[in-house]
Amino acid sequence: MLKHKDILGLYDLEREEIEEILSLAHRMKDRLRAGDKHGTELEGKSVTTLFYENSTRTRTSFEYAAKFLGAHTVSVSVATSSVRKGETLVDTGKTLDALRCDVIVIRHPVGGAPALLAKTVGAHVINAGDGMNEHPSQALLDMLTMEEKFGSIGGLKVAILGDILHSRVARSNLYGLKKLGASVSVYAPRTLLPPAFSELGATVCSSREEALDGADVVMGLRIQLERQKAGNFPSLGEYAKYYGLDEALLKYAKKGAIVTHPGPVNRGVELTSGVIDGPQSAIEEQVTSGLAVRMAMLTLLTEETL
Ligand code: NCD
Repeated sequence: MLKHKDILGLYDLEREEIEEILSLAHRMKDRLRAGDKHGTELEGKSVTTLFYENSTRTRTSFEYAAKFLGAHTVSVSVATSSVRKGETLVDTGKTLDALRCDVIVIRHPVGGAPALLAKTVGAHVINAGDGMNEHPSQALLDMLTMEEKFGSIGGLKVAILGDILHSRVARSNLYGLKKLGASVSVYAPRTLLPPAFSELGATVCSSREEALDGADVVMGLRIQLERQKAGNFPSLGEYAKYYGLDEALLKYAKKGAIVTHPGPVNRGVELTSGVIDGPQSAIEEQVTSGLAVRMAMLTLLTEETL
């Protein structure tokens, strides 16, 4: 049972709630490994995915997670919905409430949109990424992947490289990792690094080598070209050369370090193919972790008190 009605971000969730989700997610992952897709935790519940932004893995993963637990699922395609006729987010939420929807999974280009929806609907709301704000299920799946590899998060050093300014993944990870006792160092072009990151507890580094030094986890982030109004760096080629990660740089991290990336990756820009497909890459494993984490989130949110 979570204390909150909704999962809007890791800034809001308490440490105990994060641990509860991760602990159930480990059990869900074991079930997935055993090929079990016939859970009953969400039987009789309905889950709607409402995505106002593009997505492959997050949306598919939430839908599979709900189906593997026995829920009814509907995916609203915003391009063909009444949103195109000018319906407001709150009115769309009211419609879903009237349709007896139990959980709304929403992705929206505007930060704060899921919080507004959560305030106005009876259904549980899960934020699947809102603008540059938060992406809690992504950070939780990153943390699950780290726990699987290292046992626990406390004491880990996580280096985050890339477009931190536009990254809801970096923000959610920073909040969650700090709550669980990891240290976070960041490196990016100055134009892609908001000063608030050091106030929030990240160590801002002045080179890739410094950020990677002794890291257990190296997290690459996608350049969010769709959110860049002005050029924040001269060209993708230069970005790759001066800010990307290749196998030689990876040697600065700890020997058993893992490389994560939320996907989709711009191959050869944030990470070279050698890193993406190399032995330290956890990128594919992260996708399965995402399924397990979302199964746990859905279960804990809809659990009834006895
Ligand atoms: C991330 C997102 O959409 O915020 N991707 C994802 O959820 N798989 C990161 C990104 O798009 O770069």
